[in-house]
Amino acid sequence: MTAKTKIILGIESSCDDTSAAILVGNQIHANVIANQEVHQSFGGVVPELASRAHQEHIIPVVQRALNDAKISLNQLDAIAFTQGPGLMGSLTVGTSFAKALALALKIPLIGVHHMKAHVLAHFIDDASDCKPSFPFLCLTVSGGHTQIVQVNNAIDMQVLGNTIDDAAGEAFDKAAKMLGLPYPGGPLIDRYSKHGNPKAFTFSKPQIPGLNFSFSGLKTSILYALQAAEKKQTDFRKIYLNDLCASIQNTIIEILMDKLEKAVKQTGIKNVAIAGGVSANSELRKRILSKRQTDWNVSIPKMSYCTDNAAMIAMAGSFYLQENLLVGQDAAANPRLSW
Ligand code: KG4
Ligand code: ZN
Repeated sequence: MTAKTKIILGIESSCDDTSAAILVGNQIHANVIANQEVHQSFGGVVPELASRAHQEHIIPVVQRALNDAKISLNQLDAIAFTQGPGLMGSLTVGTSFAKALALALKIPLIGVHHMKAHVLAHFIDDASDCKPSFPFLCLTVSGGHTQIVQVNNAIDMQVLGNTIDDAAGEAFDKAAKMLGLPYPGGPLIDRYSKHGNPKAFTFSKPQIPGLNFSFSGLKTSILYALQAAEKKQTDFRKIYLNDLCASIQNTIIEILMDKLEKAVKQTGIKNVAIAGGVSANSELRKRILSKRQTDWNVSIPKMSYCTDNAAMIAMAGSFYLQENLLVGQDAAANPRLSW
C-alpha cells in the first residue's frame, strides 16, 4: 500500500518577503511572494515596517496560494513555517499565524530553519536539472548568512565555514548603497556588471584561514577607493558605474569560489550546490557551472527558489514530517535559531 501524498502549506516571513506555498508530494502547486517595496528608500530593511507589512500580507498571500493550487484548508496535512533565524517581528507574524491555523485545523506544525530550507529547496521536483546526491557541499549565500555546509542527509547538516562579519548579500547591498543604488542592490550590481569590465578596479581580498569568510575589509577597500577617485574626478561613481559593479562582483564571487574550491579539496566531496539569494547571481552561477567541466557534480536551483520563498519551507517541512520532527503550540519565533 502506498502512503497518501502529503499536502503541506509553507509560510515564510523571516525578513521582508511574505510568502506562502502549497507542496503536494515534492511538487509545488503554488508559490506566492509579496515583496515589500517600503524599504527601498531607507537603503535596507526597517524591522518595524517589515512586521507591519507581514501582518497586512499574510492572510491574502495564504489565501492566494490556496486558490492558485485549488486546495481547500481541510485538505492540508501539515503547516511548515520559518521559525528562525531572521527578524523577530517578522518571524513572529508567520509563527503566530501558522500556530493558530494548525490549531484550528488540528494538523501537525513544523518549525523550519530558514537556511536549511534554502539548502533543501534543491529537492523540489522542478528545482534544477540535476539534484544533489548526499553527501554534498552547499554554499549558502544570502543577505544574512554566508556558509559552506556539508549536507549528509536532509536532516543532518554540518556548517564547515561561516562569515566572521558581513554576509555576501550584505556586501553586495552595502557596495550598491555606496554607488547610490537602492536596496536590495545585489540584483542591480549583477545587472550593471554585464556592461562592465571585471578587471577595471582591484579591491583587497581577505586572508582568513580555513573555510571562514570575511567581507567587511572589502567594504572599506571600496569606500577608500571611491573617496580617493572622487577627489580627482567628481561623478566618478556615475561615470564608472558598470566597471565598478563588475569589479566588485568579480571580487565577491572570487572570494566565494576560492573557499568553495578549498572545501572540495579538504573534504573530497565533489557534489556541490549553491543556495540562498546570492545564488541568483549570474556570475556565481556561470563560474560554478563551469566546474562541470572538471569533476564536480554541480546543482543550482532555479531562480524562483534562490531568493526567499515559502516553497523551500514547505519542502523542508516535508522532510521533517517524514521524521515526525514536529513542534507544539509552545513554539516561539527564534531570531537566532541554531543549526
Ligand atoms: O535569501 P535571500 O532572499 O534573503 C535572506 O535570507 O537574506 O537573500 C537576499 C540577498 C540580498 O542581499 C540580495 O541583494 C541578494 O540576496 N541577491 C543577489 C542577487 N539576487 C539577490 N546578490 C547578487 N546578485 C543577485 N542576482
Ligand atoms: Zn533567505
